[in-house]
Amino acid sequence: MIIGFLGVGHLAAALIAGLKRAGVSPQAMLLSPRGRSAELSGRYGIDIAASSKALVARCDIIVLAVRPHDAAQAVAGLPFRAGQVLISVCAGVALAELASGPAKVVRAMPLTAAEINASPTVFFPDDGAARQLLERLGPAFALRSEREFEVATVNAAIYGWAQSLIAQSAEWCATKGTDAATMRQLVAQTFVAAGRLIAEKNDPMEHMLSELVTPGGITELGLSVLDAADQRRAWQCACEAVLDRLTGRSSA
Ligand SMILES: NC(=O)c1ccc[n+]([C@@H]2O[C@H](COP(=O)([O-])OP(=O)(O)OC[C@H]3O[C@@H](n4cnc5c(N)ncnc54)[C@H](OP(=O)(O)O)[C@@H]3O)[C@@H](O)[C@H]2O)c1
Repeated sequence: MIIGFLGVGHLAAALIAGLKRAGVSPQAMLLSPRGRSAELSGRYGIDIAASSKALVARCDIIVLAVRPHDAAQAVAGLPFRAGQVLISVCAGVALAELASGPAKVVRAMPLTAAEINASPTVFFPDDGAARQLLERLGPAFALRSEREFEVATVNAAIYGWAQSLIAQSAEWCATKGTDAATMRQLVAQTFVAAGRLIAEKNDPMEHMLSELVTPGGITELGLSVLDAADQRRAWQCACEAVLDRLTGRSSA
């Protein structure tokens, strides 16, 4: 089973690092030329195919990781065959836009946490080979429709917003004279803790939150300040804007 990377940039580098960490051998991977191929080939000992055609001819699974506007052109005219799987990680590029002949096309949305095998990755449609690959990079979630996949893709942006909240909070702590490295770890681990508790318990989220928010306490105080600044509306507007972009309703 050979996994080919068509488009070797930032995301492909994270996926390759995660696969390597999960024990996938360099001989089981192949890179398209361009981008960061030479660097990653040097680092991991992975071969670079002579062309995209040569890549598709040799691989069983092809991960398409070019920028969205390059996706359709990158796969056009390539010698896909039955039994292959093309996994597109290109945000907002519909299945119908990817001409892969008899190969099966799967859309997936891994996060850069794939690098440490911690990416929650949504994919559609379900496929055994795609699932096996994605599960090496973290928990994989097969979705029921392309529409559901598009909505879930907004989560890839939320991941960045969460990192921004961590950075803002840690930086605020540092402005108060605390140790920046300790605060970075503390705030980051607090987000991990918040997420893990929700992921690992089945209690209704409102119930879990109500247990946290002691009347008159500090959590309630902070939430009231955020609500007065209309943070819920701002967050929902951000989600809607991303979904509109992903589904082509906006170029904002
Ligand atoms: N970055 C993320 O965190 C993230 C997360 C989830 C999904 N994604 C998706 O992943 C995709 C890639 O994002 P990225 O951030 O990795 O972009 P990137 O760093 O710009 O990498 C894209 C690479 O594709 C190469 N490329 C373009 N056309 C090609 C072709 N026809 N044949 C071979 N290589 C080609 C580019 O090479 P040149 O430099 O030579 O043009 C570039 O190295 C995007 O569609 C994005 O939506 C990204």
